[in-house]
Amino acid sequence: YVIGVDLGTSAVKILLVNQIGEVVDEVSKPYPLYQEKTGYSEQNPQDWVDQTVEGLSDLLKKFTGDVEEIEGISFSGQMHGLVLLDKNNEVLRNAILWNDTRTTAECQQIYDEIGEERLLAITKNPALEGFTLPKILWVKKHEPKIFAETTTFVLPKDYLRYRLTGNIHMDYSDAAGTLLLDIREKTWSKEMCDLVGINAELCPPLIEAYDEAGTITAEMAKATGLSPSTRVFAGGADNACGAIGAGILVDGQTLCSIGTSGVVLSYEGSNEKDFQGKVHYFNHGAPDAYYTMGVTLAAGYSLSWFKDVFASEESFDDLLADIHTVPVGSKGLLFTPYLVGERTPYADAAIRGSFIGMDGSHRRKDFVRAVLEGITFSLNESIEIFRKNGKQIDTIITIGGGAKNDEWLQIQADIFNAKIVKLASEQGPGMGAAMLAAYGCNWFDSLKECAGTFLKEEKEVVPKQENVEKYKKLFAVYQEIYPQTKKMN
Ligand code: XUL
Repeated sequence: YVIGVDLGTSAVKILLVNQIGEVVDEVSKPYPLYQEKTGYSEQNPQDWVDQTVEGLSDLLKKFTGDVEEIEGISFSGQMHGLVLLDKNNEVLRNAILWNDTRTTAECQQIYDEIGEERLLAITKNPALEGFTLPKILWVKKHEPKIFAETTTFVLPKDYLRYRLTGNIHMDYSDAAGTLLLDIREKTWSKEMCDLVGINAELCPPLIEAYDEAGTITAEMAKATGLSPSTRVFAGGADNACGAIGAGILVDGQTLCSIGTSGVVLSYEGSNEKDFQGKVHYFNHGAPDAYYTMGVTLAAGYSLSWFKDVFASEESFDDLLADIHTVPVGSKGLLFTPYLVGERTPYADAAIRGSFIGMDGSHRRKDFVRAVLEGITFSLNESIEIFRKNGKQIDTIITIGGGAKNDEWLQIQADIFNAKIVKLASEQGPGMGAAMLAAYGCNWFDSLKECAGTFLKEEKEVVPKQENVEKYKKLFAVYQEIYPQTKKMN
């Protein structure tokens, strides 16, 4: 067996997986989010450790086999969150998370001190509030005493792994989201550190996501029930692990994942492409690989917002039950899902959403279909960026909310103009973490081979040409809404 631990933003989800990739047991343990002021989002790293230990202990109490049969454990983690450690590796303050937006001034500072061109050349990414470096600069400016005591920084799943093994590391897929990694050279960028005035010694040792990072300490073996000989593998960023867990492991493969936010993510065999920072470009968890990614901030969130406001008593299934009876284009109704701003392609926190084209004959189901189409148009903006830069996107594996409804699968096929694949059992980033452990334990010669055994397709949906043409016209109108409504800010 192997264990995949997905350290998310609301909970830790732990999967126990056997040699053919079946999930034999799973537990989930929540922890709180602290939002002290508007834009602030923090967590206490001790909560991650306590809840993971409790989750592992619950899982192992139910486990009837020999604990030595659990050969490896690995991790998937929420990206970008800043954990500061002192010289005794004690946590100095709460972690500042990926969805914390207090760092607009520090992003500007990065552009002023480094310049956009150099920033993109080294990190291949723009300075966004969510990333780690702006958070380090914020602490340096606003909490100088804490900063002075800092001897190293890590990301959420690295801290958890440190507490289980006693060893400090960061893997490349997560380090890529700090804005301090030279993503081509796979080294910490001394130039970036010098330019923003950060001691490069603060950066932890780098390893691959599938590298062994140690074994479980005696104390943690006792607390969790794991064997002290269980091998611990570094693990990766949740988006990299989500990609591994959906089999996005060769050129040409693309993932659409719709949760609260939505992600379109595409495998990159090289680090040489140039998307001018319009999409994120990160190191993958797989050997010598990268991925590019665009984000729609309010994907599933747009639908749950609509349900809360207009159909709070109903289930999502009821709400979506009759959308197949509404024609393509929702009878002239268009929705933009900018309820909390937008990331790709605009990186605009201030823009807000809209319904355009309302008619007296429109009924609620027309609005519901328009919401699904609007979310999908927004994700298509990321796909357009990929295609405009020469990527071929023929097949898209879809997971999350977008895979749960047959009509939404067809909408994706028609708007993306690509074949949509739905997986038989979809476990997200936790499965990617388990696969990293399985590969690390040498169960397979490659992650691709592991995916061949662990993952199965359930069905494929192909685009209907007539709908593709209709959606192309509507997408052109959709793209005009942003510049027009921007004027309202
Ligand atoms: C990626 C990002 C989020 C977090 C969520 O850039 O900010 O997807 O990784 O955990």
